[in-house]
Amino acid sequence: MRVIVGMTGASGAVFGVEFLRRCQAEKFLILTKWGRYVLKEETGLTEHHLAEHVKRTFSDEDLAAPFASGSNPFDALVIIPCSMTTMAKIACGLGDTLLTRTAQVALKERRKIILAVRETPLSTIALEQAHKLSQAGAIVMPLSPPFYHHPQTIEQMVEQFTDKILGLLGFETQLAWKPEALE
Ligand SMILES: Cc1cc2nc3c(=O)[nH]c(=O)nc-3n(C[C@H](O)[C@H](O)[C@H](O)COP(=O)(O)O)c2cc1C
Repeated sequence: MRVIVGMTGASGAVFGVEFLRRCQAEKFLILTKWGRYVLKEETGLTEHHLAEHVKRTFSDEDLAAPFASGSNPFDALVIIPCSMTTMAKIACGLGDTLLTRTAQVALKERRKIILAVRETPLSTIALEQAHKLSQAGAIVMPLSPPFYHHPQTIEQMVEQFTDKILGLLGFETQLAWKPEALE
């Protein structure tokens, strides 16, 4: 499976890092300018630290990168964390950066696209855009970890949320709610 991972300037960079660490796919990373800033600010990490998890990182400014074209296949685009700015651009059909262009491609080619958005509260405009994207086939999932596994640490909360995305991509996940009831 080939997954493009976008990390933007929304808070919650640790979710993106954990997703990159755990997703066992061929991964390509697109880090926006503000994604790079928030990554450093919140985790102390740089693009260099993420390189071991991905096949290649593309500049968000590189509109000549392969995934800017629909003729280069990928199975899913996961944007985690996804800012309101990036969500708004995608909802409006803008493709002026590699990440928004790749999202445009995912939508037109009917490929899986997951936006792990982070903002609170959500404006009416953001809700309208999320609605529009959901109708267009995108999965809009707020960075909202579950509590039914009784996480004891922030790491466990992050892990349990990324597990949810892995499940949406079709990977077998470690955690299910009350699996014993199915026996
Ligand atoms: C430390 C920091 C935290 C931010 N957190 C959020 C956030 O949680 N959600 C959001 O939509 N924008 C947030 N922003 C604002 C975005 O970074 C800003 O809108 C930027 O234009 C996003 O661009 P991008 O989507 O291309 O990365 C934050 C900015 C900074 C500096």
